[in-house]
Amino acid sequence: TLELDAGTSRAPIQPTMYGIFFEDINFAADGGLYAEMVKNRSFEFTLPKTGWLEPNTDPFSLNARSGKSDIIKTARDQANVNFLRVTVKGPDYVLLNEGFRGMGVKAGADYDLTFDAAVGAGDIRQATFALIDTAGNVLGQTTVDLAGAERKEYAGTIRSRATAAKARLRVTFTGTGVVDLDMVSLFPRDTWKGRKKGLRKDLVQLLDDMDPGFLRFPGGCIVEGRTLARRYQWKKTVGPVADREYLVNRWNTEFDHRPTPDYYQSFGLGFFEYFQLAEDMGAEPLPILSCGMACQFNTGELVPMDELDPYVQDALDLIEFANGDVTTPWGKVRRDMGHPEPFNLKYIGVGNEQWGEEYIERYKVFNEAISAAYPDIVIVSGSGPFPDGEFFEYGMQQLTDLGAELVDEHYYRSPEWFRENATRYDDYPRDGPKIFAGEYAAQSVAIASPDNKNNWNTALSEAAYMTGMERNADLVVMTSYAPLMAHAEAWQWTPDMIWFDNLESYGTANYYVQKMYANHAGTDLLSVTEGGEPLTGREDLYASAVKDTERKELYLKVANTGREPQRLSVDLKGARAGASVRVLTMASDDLEAVNSFSAPTRLSPVESTVSLQGNTLDVTVPSHAFVVYTFTLQ
Ligand code: AHR
Repeated sequence: TLELDAGTSRAPIQPTMYGIFFEDINFAADGGLYAEMVKNRSFEFTLPKTGWLEPNTDPFSLNARSGKSDIIKTARDQANVNFLRVTVKGPDYVLLNEGFRGMGVKAGADYDLTFDAAVGAGDIRQATFALIDTAGNVLGQTTVDLAGAERKEYAGTIRSRATAAKARLRVTFTGTGVVDLDMVSLFPRDTWKGRKKGLRKDLVQLLDDMDPGFLRFPGGCIVEGRTLARRYQWKKTVGPVADREYLVNRWNTEFDHRPTPDYYQSFGLGFFEYFQLAEDMGAEPLPILSCGMACQFNTGELVPMDELDPYVQDALDLIEFANGDVTTPWGKVRRDMGHPEPFNLKYIGVGNEQWGEEYIERYKVFNEAISAAYPDIVIVSGSGPFPDGEFFEYGMQQLTDLGAELVDEHYYRSPEWFRENATRYDDYPRDGPKIFAGEYAAQSVAIASPDNKNNWNTALSEAAYMTGMERNADLVVMTSYAPLMAHAEAWQWTPDMIWFDNLESYGTANYYVQKMYANHAGTDLLSVTEGGEPLTGREDLYASAVKDTERKELYLKVANTGREPQRLSVDLKGARAGASVRVLTMASDDLEAVNSFSAPTRLSPVESTVSLQGNTLDVTVPSHAFVVYTFTLQ
């Protein structure tokens, strides 16, 4: 018998309670959320495998004698220094772009092509861009007239007559001679909110459906970089897309032999697009910036303390970019990009997953500078990758002594750990920083192992654990699963909340658990107890409850991690509710079960209703189940 006290609010639930952590890992940005289909469109990325297939290595362009292409590096002092000089000697010369593990195209859909060209010696008059399937069949094409030695932008549209997961873009020419190409770009017309050269609609929709409270960006380890030179620098990600400097992604195999030697960042999804996405979803932006420490799992390179200023200035300037008046230098950049109104940034993260004395001394400098210039901005500090132990204790103590407001904790642990630690926050001090559980995920095998699965065991264990976060919502004010997304053919880390290929995407069981929490976040924490005690795993039961004063609803969340169904009698106190209670249930006795492209919603909530008798709800919670009961308050 549970006692559910709807009459007393124990704490407000912060609107930021359940959010999203986006990192460009697993092709989440280029090749994922950012809908560009051409890989290495500006020829900047010159490591082997650049997206452009060599004529004599591809079955559809065998005749290397009919032409050649050279990447030319200009002397220009700008981000986009390379272009492609194509010398066409015969009609069968072709260029091919392989896309990001192919290009996903849909029957009847339009694809917008743009490219820059300058015609040189000879008589090249036209370029034909065709989408071809793996057998070389043309799915759709457009021919564009070329003229003039001046570099200029050309455009066309390709309509695909068929659906194909592995299309490629083929370029051929009319005439012979020399033509220079740059910024060869192909986007689906059907993007999120129909924005030109925008974001992939199905992926944003999955995120938006969660109704996230915040959007943390851009990482993760890519904030830090393996070296300081290769850290994420937000200023290089705003302004015209062609001027954004490419960077080798920290998750590129150049370094660690995972199968993605072609992983780079074009920053087409940069900081402007990020703020815009957060705004679209009604999520608070939470940018994380380098604190002058490269990834401590790699080089751990440190910027000397007397050279920290530019890093601190980056943080101050980002706040100005987001919130500053259009007369300020960075506010003007935002206005010029089409958003004169401020983005109302309230949070900023200093460093990602740093630890030790080196972090604390750098954090202090950021803290002082940001607090002095922007006293209302909440600074998020890090506590490293450990949920306990010496480094964690040290960091938390230091941050508490420094009066830190919000500390980011990360934990990737076994499902058992999650189930056994649902009480983690019950005894945390209430006079220290608030908690942001910024990265967590149950690992079905060893952390980040390629064999990790997003199975029901992991998702159910997280659901059980999250009752503990919710019960401590006075302390825990932000939470997010990690990592967010993975391309099925180009990932570096598992498990991940959303999987996609070039055509489709699906949410894992973990996604649906997150969504169930986020969609039922509530505004006020309630008490739900059995014999005066919270349910934290006793007889495999976990529970938490909130109410939403605006929607006039009460949400009771119950996880049963045991193999037996459990009968519950819930006594609603302090409020009256309508007779019909909505029940959303995720349940499976197959703990290894997963969602997949062929069964994308195998593990997802099933809706039913149950009747309240007076103020008592009698229900049976299925074995291995997570259930949200929605009461309508009167
Ligand atoms: O989420 C994957 C990685 O895990 C993040 O980049 C990093 O912060 C953590 O170690």
